[in-house]
Formats: sequence, structure tokens, C-alpha cells
Amino acid sequence: MIHVGVFGYGTVGSGVVEVLTKNEKVIEKNVGEKVKVKAVLDLREFHGDPFENLIVHDVKEIVEDEDIDVVCETMGGVNAAYEFTKMALSNGKSVCTSNKELVALHGPELINLAKKHNCSYKFEASVGGGIPIIRPLQDAITADEIKAVIGIVNGTTNYMLTKMDKEEADFNDVLKEAQELGYAELHPEADVEGFDAARKIAILSSLVYGKTVNYEDVHTEGITNISSRDFRYAKHLGKTIKLLAKFENRDTGSYAIVAPFFVDLESPLSNVNDVYNAILVRGNMLGDAMFFGKGAGKLPTASAVCADVVECAKNKGKHLPCNWEDESVKLDGFDNSVKNFFVRVKAEDRELTEEIFGEVEKVNEGFFDEFAFVTKEMTEADFASKKALIGPCINVIRLQK
Ligand code: HSE
Repeated sequence: MIHVGVFGYGTVGSGVVEVLTKNEKVIEKNVGEKVKVKAVLDLREFHGDPFENLIVHDVKEIVEDEDIDVVCETMGGVNAAYEFTKMALSNGKSVCTSNKELVALHGPELINLAKKHNCSYKFEASVGGGIPIIRPLQDAITADEIKAVIGIVNGTTNYMLTKMDKEEADFNDVLKEAQELGYAELHPEADVEGFDAARKIAILSSLVYGKTVNYEDVHTEGITNISSRDFRYAKHLGKTIKLLAKFENRDTGSYAIVAPFFVDLESPLSNVNDVYNAILVRGNMLGDAMFFGKGAGKLPTASAVCADVVECAKNKGKHLPCNWEDESVKLDGFDNSVKNFFVRVKAEDRELTEEIFGEVEKVNEGFFDEFAFVTKEMTEADFASKKALIGPCINVIRLQK
């Protein structure tokens, strides 16, 4: 029998207990022995909950319990999660987590600690919710040079953008709905400002390199400036708006970005709606492969945590290697990366803008108080210097090729 401890009985933690209980039989078949939750750490009481007798309030009751083989860290945040994870790994217990913040910040250190103690640190649920993407990158797409990873990796913002596009819904109303559905972070700025997606693309690109891509080096813009007018323009151009997280490995240098993009309606990414996520991986031999599924929410995320539990249980007493070293990767290709930019400026800035940008594709949606256009292809650096000459724009959205 494999015994499991859970840190945190919130949305994902309670999902983990549910998955391990409801799918007891299939999990037993896949592991080769029974897997049972023995204790759940949470500061709160859960009177009347079917698993209230499993709740413990002292982390030692899990990390010092010799019966417990695997711990699911679903508490989120960094400080306590980091300390508790180190305690569990140091005692030879594998840790499976959905905590992208902790993985992005301390991934290689925790993997090395696990290696030292013959256990594993697994984080499939940290990117793309229920979608298997970490394991394919590590174990399946291993004969290719990965040229790009392009993803919709935040369920909350994708849910919001879909509602804003299809139902012309208000930003704050849809954010509230996403929170009620259990998709949003505790502090939703992490979703709407793009930080959550930046951590996820940093994790994916670190796995591509086998070295650390620091999430603070990801150029990050959120969706708080996106308005119904932007969607009107997008429709006019046969596009929609998606928050993309991209990593590109080019001859001119590598870079990572999270920002809203105009995505062509013919692109498969434009059809990824609501809480669904998709991650397109471009290999130099494979071409494009796309991974699609529910990117947030209780059971999809718990399903990915539990799949890691199954792998750790099957490999009890062994370290499952992960190619991710502490050494940092320098991302120096952003300024030289080339894109088209959709720009909205005030009507009075039109003349100056046309002078500075030269020939542009005008986009007329009948708003007389502003001037909107798409630039020709130019580098980020060239665009930034031209934009600085016209001063504040109403909005700028890049075009995804
Ligand atoms: N807030 C995150 C999202 C949860 O919306 O994608 C899953 O990581």
C-alpha cells in the first residue's frame, strides 16, 4: 500500500483526495498496489466533510510519518510550501505539486534535493492544468531541437477573453465568474497581469534548455487594457485576441513573452476557448504538435497531480530524473524579434504617427476619436523607439503569425 499526504485542502487539494478516492481501482491497477490518502494538512477545520478525520494541523504528522511515501503539495504560495516541500523531500518522500510559483522559483534546487534523498519532485500540474505537457517535453519530444513553444496557459484570462469576445461581457464581471469557478489565483493580478503565464512559460522553456529561464526575464504584459473596441478591431481583421505565452529559439537569439496577441481565426489557437489551454510545441524535425485540454479547475488539475503520484508510487525508492539545472539561460533575442503591431492612438496624433511609422495598414472601425493601424514587420526595438516619439498610445497589440 502506498500512503499519500496532502498539503492544503483547498480547490486542488480537495480535488486530489477526490481523484485518489473515486479512481481508487484504476489507480491501483496502474500502480500495482493500493494508493490511499493518510493525512491532509490544513490550518482550517472541515466539520461535516467526508474526509474531516484525515485533517491534521502539524506538518510533522505528514513529513515524519514513516508510512507516507508521496506528498501532494497543493497549498500554493511560496514560503511555507517551500519549507514543507524541503522537509518532505529530505525525509525521502516524493512531492507532486501544482504550485507553479514554487516550481518557477526553486525547481532545480528541489529536484536536486529529491535526487539526494532517492525520491522525486514532480510538477506536471504546474503548467496547463490537466494537460500532459511536462512529461511529453521531457520524455517524448526528445529527438528534436525545440524551436518554439506557443501557449494559452492561463485558464482565467482565456475564460475572460472568450466571454468578452463572444458575449461582449464586462472585464470585472467575467473575472468574478472565473474566481467563482475556482480558476483564478488567490490574487487575480497574477492571472490578469500575465505573471502566472510568465511563470508557466519560464518552466516550459527551462525544460527545453535543461537550464533555468528566470520568469522575471519573460517580457510580460497582461490583459487589463483590453477593451470591447479591441475586439471590434480584431473582428474587422478576421482575428481574435488571446493571451499568448511564447518562447522562441531563433538564430537572432531566444526570447520569451507573455502578452495579448491578435490571433488569426484560421489558427488552431483561436479556437481554444473558455478555461481550455493549448500548448503548441515546434520541433525542428517534428514540426508542430499541439497539446489541448482543461487548463485550470479542481479535477483537471488534481488529475495531473495524481498522475504524478502514480509515477512516484510505481518508482518508490527511486529518483525520477529531470533535466533542469540551476544555471541561468540568457534571453537576449527580444529586441531583435520581428512582429507586426496593431496600434491605436488619439485622432489628433494621426499625422505625427503616419510621419513616424510611414506606410501602415489603416483599420477603420468608425471610431472618429482615434486612429488605428497595423505596422509593417519591424523589430521590437524599432517599434519601441518609434512609439516613444508619439507618446502614450490607447493600446498596442502584437499580431501572431
Ligand atoms: N489561475 C490559473 C489559471 C490556475 O487560471 O490558469 C491554473 O494554473
